[in-house]
Amino acid sequence: MSNQILLLSGPNLDQLGIRSPEIYGTETLAQHVTRFTSGATEHGFTVQHLQSNFEGDLIEAVRDARATSFAIVINAGALTHTSWALADALATFDGIKIEVHLSNPAAREPYRHVSTLAGVVDGTIAGFGSLSYTLALDAVRHKHTPA
Ligand code: DQA
Repeated sequence: MSNQILLLSGPNLDQLGIRSPEIYGTETLAQHVTRFTSGATEHGFTVQHLQSNFEGDLIEAVRDARATSFAIVINAGALTHTSWALADALATFDGIKIEVHLSNPAAREPYRHVSTLAGVVDGTIAGFGSLSYTLALDAVRHKHTPA
């Protein structure tokens, strides 16, 4: 069985560090990914990370993950609130699926209150800044049954 986690980052997350730091903090995406990866490595997992500003790239990565990964951790950015196509793709992935957000979308603008992904993932972690990623890794470990 695979020990790989696919970490997906959606549109505009490549701008972390300069994008609305009062909401998302000052850490870059690379820093979040490095911390997530070193935590995962400590527990014997590998991490493949993809950031894309294009919905189709994320959909294809989810499809490819069926053959390569036992878990997907996804921060889909604003696609969280709009993409039924990404939700459909995630629904076809049988492994562990954790939705993660740095901010708490439920406490923000009304259009962020809907998540198309929430119904097809195991659970959602939101609102804890960089700690959200650490908690997402804990959630993967909690759901993971070693082979
Ligand atoms: C986000 C929340 C989304 O509403 C927003 O569009 C993002 C970032 C978060 O991590 O808090 O791009 O997913």
